[in-house]
Amino acid sequence: MKSNAQITRMGILFAIRELLWYNKENIQKEAVAMGKLIVIEGLDGSGKGTQAGELVKNLEAQGKQVRKISFPNYASDSSALVKMYLGGQFGQNPGDVNAYAASTFFAVDRFASFKQDWGSFYAQGGILVADRYTTSNAVHQCSKLPKEQWDAFLEWLFHFEYTLLGIPAPDLVIYLNVDPAVSQKLMTDRYQGDESKKDIHEGNLPYLNRSREAAEYCSKKLGWREIACCEAGRMRSIEAIQAEVLTLACE
Ligand SMILES: Nc1ncnc2c1ncn2[C@@H]1O[C@H](COP(=O)(O)OP(=O)(O)OP(=O)(O)O)[C@@H](O)[C@H]1O
Ligand SMILES: [Mg+2]
Repeated sequence: MKSNAQITRMGILFAIRELLWYNKENIQKEAVAMGKLIVIEGLDGSGKGTQAGELVKNLEAQGKQVRKISFPNYASDSSALVKMYLGGQFGQNPGDVNAYAASTFFAVDRFASFKQDWGSFYAQGGILVADRYTTSNAVHQCSKLPKEQWDAFLEWLFHFEYTLLGIPAPDLVIYLNVDPAVSQKLMTDRYQGDESKKDIHEGNLPYLNRSREAAEYCSKKLGWREIACCEAGRMRSIEAIQAEVLTLACE
């Protein structure tokens, strides 16, 4: 026989469990996807912006309602902490800001642009092509942690952005696989040889190499669609890569 106190305690625990479950269900419902979100992911200088732009043009030519979005959203005040971090104001090494803290800087910037800019377009069924997304936190922040902590970090990251903040999860992630030595050269060319223009991620080849390992881990674990962008140590043409991107986007 249970005492009255035990029965009351069980009742309270049951009510708490129901309340937690109700909140979880409702937060998830608010985050339900309506449009389509295609993410172009890759290391720094891997051609994400270029391929996202080309994809938007090609989908528009097919008469689709499509928009390009880019992260970080440097045009917005919401990227202030990202700028401070990448500009080295919290330390010159990426590791000076831990994976969780740095991830929140990028996440709130995405939340702001979802709320102010593209959320309604998405809710009305529009197609968004994102040059980077939450997936960039996965790539660039995992590399700061020991490998045995990657799974826990990824679980935290996606729960934080897609469930708690309530921004949509991607329908498709296309990972542009580029050898870091090749992408470093593209970036140096872009900055006309001025190495000082690179941010604390871009200028750090050992960090980029670890990020590549993280990217490949995430790509396999999370079912990203991968495009091999290099051939014999050089970039393939923009058009050849785009043909594969477009095929994946239209599947
Ligand atoms: N397939 C390609 N072949 C040669 N050059 C390319 C190719 N794709 C992009 N580029 C050039 O490489 C540079 C980097 O490309 P892009 O800016 O699209 O990369 P990104 O991944 O968006 O870079 P970041 O991570 O710095 O934002 C640009 O100058 C771009 O014109
Ligand atoms: Mg870019």
